[in-house]
Amino acid sequence: MIDEDGVPAERVLAEIRELRALDRPTHGGRLFAYVYDPAVPGLDELAAAAHAGSAHVNGLDPTAFPSLLAMENALVGAAARLLGGGPGTTAPEAVGSVTSGGTESLILAVKAARDARPELTAPRIVVPASGHAAFAKAAHLLGVTLDTVPVDPRTLRPAAADVAAAIRPETVLVACSAPSYAHGVVDPVAEIAAAAAAAGVRCHVDACFGGWTLPYLRRLGVPVPPFDFAVDGVTSISVDLHKYAYAPKGVSVLLHRDPALRAPQYFAYADWPGYTMVNPVLASTRSGGPIAAAYATLRHLGDAGYLRLAAATRDAVTALADAVRGVDGLRLMAEPESTVVCLTATDPELDLFVLVDELTARGWHTQPQLRYADLPPSVHLTVTASVAPRVAEFGPDLAAAVAAARAAGPVRLPAELLALATALTPQALTPELVAGLAAGLGLDGGRGVPERMAVVNTLLDAAPPALRERLLVEFVSLLQRPTY
Ligand SMILES: Cc1ncc(COP(=O)(O)O)c(C=O)c1O
Repeated sequence: MIDEDGVPAERVLAEIRELRALDRPTHGGRLFAYVYDPAVPGLDELAAAAHAGSAHVNGLDPTAFPSLLAMENALVGAAARLLGGGPGTTAPEAVGSVTSGGTESLILAVKAARDARPELTAPRIVVPASGHAAFAKAAHLLGVTLDTVPVDPRTLRPAAADVAAAIRPETVLVACSAPSYAHGVVDPVAEIAAAAAAAGVRCHVDACFGGWTLPYLRRLGVPVPPFDFAVDGVTSISVDLHKYAYAPKGVSVLLHRDPALRAPQYFAYADWPGYTMVNPVLASTRSGGPIAAAYATLRHLGDAGYLRLAAATRDAVTALADAVRGVDGLRLMAEPESTVVCLTATDPELDLFVLVDELTARGWHTQPQLRYADLPPSVHLTVTASVAPRVAEFGPDLAAAVAAARAAGPVRLPAELLALATALTPQALTPELVAGLAAGLGLDGGRGVPERMAVVNTLLDAAPPALRERLLVEFVSLLQRPTY
């Protein structure tokens, strides 16, 4: 890697281009997860230039780099205004921080809630089962107990009464999603926030995924239920700028209704011989690159730009949902109410994981979701504005992929593999067993990830969550090997 004499710039860039060619296509409207592409000409170049100009600026000390402070404050102000905060609203004193992403925002929301109640020795949070996995990560990292509330398999939402019943004296935070990632549905925020407020508990709205589009969809006439600071009892909201604000990765905003609610989010430490560390977020040294890139993106797209992108996305969602409705053997998990299309099979002979592979073979990259509790396996499509020009191609390809999946038939795992997946405990999973399994599934490092994943997904689907976690940790660690 470290060349003795160094490598000329052009060659280095060529190497990276070669590596990038292995990736799924981030542009072109055919990737339905991981990336958010508005397909606005010149936006990538603008964001890259802004990123480069601030990449070496350090967010560690806002007094040394006031440019970053100014841009952060502008981003927080924009997010607060969009989500019902700022002068003249019900949350006139809303404040916030720029974080590196949704996960960090959620961890900090939990940290602030936990540290606001230092008298509790065993704090807990209440999160619907459809809440993002980052809440579980936050609970794990912060030593907080996670109380999960089931979702109704029909509405894919928690009942507010169940959330209320789960609140205990040790509960420091109640969370809900607007919308959930998996199915794109908005939780009953008003009822949940009311239950939290009645118990004197904070309520966080995870609007990381769709918080930037919901207000625009509402302006376009989509019936979006109240979910922001206009709702009494909502104490904090997270919204990711690297999702539907279409900024390059590494930027989310965590908002609090007022400064007192934010105060316990900070970490300060002076009891060492170096500089007093004051961190509003998890990282200490932070690059100004993502913040400047987000600033440039928001400034350039403007309100009218976001409204236009939301309209294109809404049209794409409608067309994709129609395509799903038009194919026998499939159904929508939920009527789309935001920017997600989620489908499942109505016919046991139609294997969704084979379908996902068939779609991939046709250049459409969707995301399989494994069965969970009462919910069947499903296929998730995060829809962005870039999809709009491609939607007419999707319907015929979906029909062809379904026909091919039917012709191939469902994956039938060998009996011993199925037995392993259902009966094995995570503790019994030795590295040797995993290596053997990975080799059998074509996942043994070196060769990368196989093109067809249906067998792997079927195996994971058969396994309970704890075993899925363990298997995936082992598989990913097989992939993460240093190259010497
Ligand atoms: C609703 C929701 N919350 C949190 C996150 C976590 O965001 P990140 O991947 O930026 O950490 C996501 C990511 O998809 C999300 O959809």
